[in-house]
Order: sequence, then structure tokens, then C-alpha cells
Amino acid sequence: MTDNNPQNPLPEPENPRRRSLFKAVGAAGIATAGASLLPGCGPRIEKEQANLGFAEIPHRLDHRHHLPDDYTADLLLRWGDPLDAFADRFVPEKLDAAEQSRRFGYNNDFIAFMPLDPDAGPGEGDRHCRSSNSERGLLCVNHEYTQPHLMFAGYSEAASIRGTSDQHIAVEQQACGHSVVEIEKTSGGWQPVLGSPYNRRISLTTEMDIVGAAAGDTRLRTNEDPSGMRVFGTVGNCAGGKTPWGTVLIAEEGFGGAFQGDPNKVADEVEAQNHQAFGISPENRNWGNYDRRFDISVEPHEPNRFGWMVEYDPYDPQSKPRKLTGLGRFEHEGFTLVSKPGQPIVAYGGDDDEHQFVYRFVSSGIYRPGEPAHNRALLTEGTLYAGQFREGGAGVWLPLVFGQGPLTEENGFRNQADVLIDCRRAAKLIGATPMDRPEDVETNPVNDCTYVMLTKNRKRAEGDENAANPRARNSAGHVLEIVPPGRSGERDHVSDSFRWNTFLLGGNPNAEDPAERGAYGQQVPGAISPHGWFTNPDNVAFDMRGNMWIATDGCESFGFHDGLWAMATEGELRAAPKHFFGCPQGGEICGPEFTPDGTTLFVSVQHPADADNSTFDNPLHRWPDNDPGLPPRPSVLAIRRKDGGVVGR
Ligand code: FEO
Ligand code: CA
Ligand code: CA
Repeated sequence: MTDNNPQNPLPEPENPRRRSLFKAVGAAGIATAGASLLPGCGPRIEKEQANLGFAEIPHRLDHRHHLPDDYTADLLLRWGDPLDAFADRFVPEKLDAAEQSRRFGYNNDFIAFMPLDPDAGPGEGDRHCRSSNSERGLLCVNHEYTQPHLMFAGYSEAASIRGTSDQHIAVEQQACGHSVVEIEKTSGGWQPVLGSPYNRRISLTTEMDIVGAAAGDTRLRTNEDPSGMRVFGTVGNCAGGKTPWGTVLIAEEGFGGAFQGDPNKVADEVEAQNHQAFGISPENRNWGNYDRRFDISVEPHEPNRFGWMVEYDPYDPQSKPRKLTGLGRFEHEGFTLVSKPGQPIVAYGGDDDEHQFVYRFVSSGIYRPGEPAHNRALLTEGTLYAGQFREGGAGVWLPLVFGQGPLTEENGFRNQADVLIDCRRAAKLIGATPMDRPEDVETNPVNDCTYVMLTKNRKRAEGDENAANPRARNSAGHVLEIVPPGRSGERDHVSDSFRWNTFLLGGNPNAEDPAERGAYGQQVPGAISPHGWFTNPDNVAFDMRGNMWIATDGCESFGFHDGLWAMATEGELRAAPKHFFGCPQGGEICGPEFTPDGTTLFVSVQHPADADNSTFDNPLHRWPDNDPGLPPRPSVLAIRRKDGGVVGR
């Protein structure tokens, strides 16, 4: 099933560096944007990072995906593809819950590539995770949410929210969650290994433990689980992270939509406000009719068991996932780690909602390479902080600890469990800076600085701007750079203070409306082409040289496809993006993930053909199969250079 989606031969754009674009995105254009784009935080490695050698693709909007001519994409996994060796061909009309539980889930998002050591087997994650095998590994993929009107015949989008049939809800609950799929690189490209003992689905019926400071708290107890320490399933799985001890972290983001009921009818006022804050309402989808735990009038505590980070071991198919309460409860985009031997683990994450916060977790214990049993406990104990971004580029991490500052009984917190369950309220009280929807927060392994994707915030009113979120009605998003004290490669991520600066502002550098006017690196006149600008940064990855690869979610509002843009973070081409990949219309792109050798870049195309009036019966298009018998299918692509070289070089 490799390469069965023909690439579109694209006209190679002329070299943008040779074009006369100085007027378009040169110093004058940038100056009017009003952003202070400072020089980088690390060593000057411009020659290395500047060498993004691919031929840039144009902004477009059509029913295909697009890559530079000298690249190819293997169509690796699609919704409904079997994971075991004996499954039948995917026929969506025949799909039931049992079938879906053996097949790749819907709306793929985060991707982790976990290498396989050929000499180790299942359960030996500590050996596998030291491997840099780039030809065989486990692809660990989130499935964020379901869209019945694009999955099943007979629904309009409106009808699918309140009127999904029980049978279809049962399928949806198996289509959410996460997949582990062994994959191998063959002479024909990447392929799944059907029937691999590692292949696994995690869904809304997978049993999990609840661990950390909030585990067992009364607010996590339900009729089904009086212990408050055991829960079935995970939902809203957006981005995530990886640990150096071979586990994967998956985020629970938009979990509120899975629950129905009227928060005002919940007797406990704290709980009512809590449910309201996460968008639980009588208008939500009708899962509660089918599965009573999603009805808050029956189980008012069940939503408190979602909104966490989940850690699991993909190398052990029997391992039980754990919800890590120490990392707080909110609409988690993901958490990514900085792991330095002999130091605490530092993890950074964001709460993807308007005016929510950026977080940092510092483990109580020390990371000790080669001691997996010790390391596996590191994310269960530690301190969570929320970021305060001050005027002038200073920043501090404020601890979320019961009894400290305003986090006391007078303000409605009984204990640390309350601080973690009501993390948003706690972070606001201690003075964290409300941000423009924090998505991925990830540290560049080359310069050791941390980058925050802020996707947009149209709800930021005039007068409500702050130094780190400088645009009212921010529709195009921006990227911040966090610079911990110390030198490149040896920065102190444990320090409670940091410097920050604006790395770039999304948007067209020539836009008239300041809310949409982009600002990028300006050290080389004309460094970015008319296709180099983008909007709505969402996910991010760094290649081996420390170049930043940003995946977007929202460019269609600006007239072109979502996709990938790559750029240096240092040197003269710092923050000067080049356009690498474009999605089929209606889709957003998630997950970018490189193999350890950098020769493959995995990407998720989520919700292709998601558009007004586009349904299973009458979709906008049928990417990637373009088969009249199949609907559009969210899919994972493995992008390679045709000559086998390093992607982007
Ligand atoms: Fe699921 Fe934050 O996007
Ligand atoms: Ca995301
Ligand atoms: Ca997204």
C-alpha cells in the first residue's frame, strides 16, 4: 500500500532567494508589524541550519497533498486499515465496534516513532528505546475525535451531534484513543507489519490506572469506580510526548465534548463551574444516552477522570496506561520532556483554549539513564508550574502548590487534588499569563530553547493584549521562544526564571489588519517567498540540525491549505519559513515526527474533506483513495526524499 496515492508533479518554484521579494517581506514590511523579533538564543550555526535545500511548494487549495518534486510520500495508515493479519478489506458500511477495535482509528493526530532493537522483544522497552533503528519501529498515533457525518452514511453534521445511533457511538468509542502499529521500511517504502505482537488499540474501553497526587480523591470517585483510581479509556487525544525510558505520553484535550448534561443541575457548585469551563452542555453529542457515564446527571465525577496526560509503554502490549494527575487537568495539547542525566525531568505543556496557560512540570526525582524502574516513577511526583510572561522579556514559573499563595481553603481548594483538578482556576489565581491558545510546547535539542506554538485567539479584545500575546483578535497565531538561563545545550530548565521573546507572528507580512499581519526573520532581505508565510502554528518538530518544522491548523481561513513550514531557529535565516507540505482541502496536519536518522518524516493528515455540507454520502473529495466506494480517510504519510537522503537538507 505504498505510494498508491500518486504525487502531484509540481512546477518547481524559482529560487525565492533570487526573486525580488524585498518589497514584499523585507525590512520595511516587518518593521510595520511592530514585533520585536530578537536574534536567537543559541550559538550561531547559520550555515548548518540555513541549509534547507528543498524546492519550496506554493500555497494552494485543492483536493490533493503536495510535496517538493524530489520527495515522495508512502500512504502508511488510513482510518479502517487492519492491524492484524487476517482482517478483511475495509468496508465502512460493515464496520462495527469489534471490527473498529482491530483497525486503525479516526482523525490521527500526534505521532511518536519508537525504534525497535532487532535483538529485543515485547516487554523490553528499556533496550528498544536505546536503539536508533530508523527502518523498523512502532508508530504510536493518537486519534483525537470522531466525525459521524464523515464516517457513516445518513447523517448531516447537525444530525450527527444529537442523533448518532447506539451502534455508531460504539464504533466511535473504538475509533478514538490511540494505535500502536509496528512498521518497517521496505524497498517499496514504509509498510505496517500486520499481525505484529506489538500492534494494539487503546480506546474508550481500555482500562487505565489513575496515579499521582489526585489519585483516589473523592472528586475522582464514581459509582463504577468507588476507589477513584481506575478508569476506562481516553478521549480527545491530541498531541503528546516521548520519554527516554521508552514510554509515550498522550494528551487528553477536548474531552468536554464527550459529556452531555446541564452543569447547572449538578448540585455541587464547584463541580458545576468545572464542567461549564470544559464546555459540557445539554447540546453536546448524545453519548450519554448510550453509555451513562457520559451523562453528568448520572456520573457527575466522570469528567474529572479525563483531561489528564496518559503514559503507557508501547513496547509492552500488556501494559496498563496510567493517567498522570501530577501534570494537571486541563485541555492538554501535549507534554514534551527535557531529560538531562542527574537532573530532574522537566516537561513543558500547554492548555489549548483561549486565555489559558503554559505549564512546566519538574520531577522530584532525578533522571538516571539505564534505570528504567526508577525513571518510570519520575512523572508521578513533582511540582507543576504555570508561566508568567512579563513585559521586557522576563518570565517566571509560578508553582501550583496547595497552601502556597492563594491556593488555600479560603479560595475553595481542599487539597493538592483540587489544585490539580481545577488547574485552570489555580493558574489564573496565582497570576499566570493568559495566552492565545497554547498548542505544542517543545524544546529544540540543538539550542536548548523551548518554543511555544500559540495558534490563535479571536476572543482577545482590544485593550486585553499583553507583552507575550500582543495582538487583539489574534487570528493568525504566533510563536514564542523561551530562553532558560545558561548556555546553549546546558540551559537550566529547572530555574524558575527565564527570558522570552517573540520568535515570529503568523500571517501575511503585507496584511493591512494588524491582527493578521505576520512578522518573520528579517536578517536576509527577501528570505521568505510569497509562499513562506503561514498562520495558526499547532504542532512542531525539530530535525537533527535544530531546524523547526511547524504544522498548521487554520490556513484555509487565509485562502490556502494547511501544511508544514520549515525554518532555522538560529543564524541569518532564523524564523524565515519555507513551505514543504500541503494538505488536501479540509484537512489539517499534525504529528510531524522524524526517524532518528532524519530520512523519514511522518505526518498525520487529520479530517480531510472537513467542510460545510461535506458528508460521508456527499464528501468534498475522497482523499487519499479517490475511490467512489470509500469516504475521505484521515491518514498517516511517511515522507521520504527520493534519493534516500535526510529530509530537508
Ligand atoms: Fe487538538 Fe490543540 O489541537
Ligand atoms: Ca494540536
Ligand atoms: Ca489541531
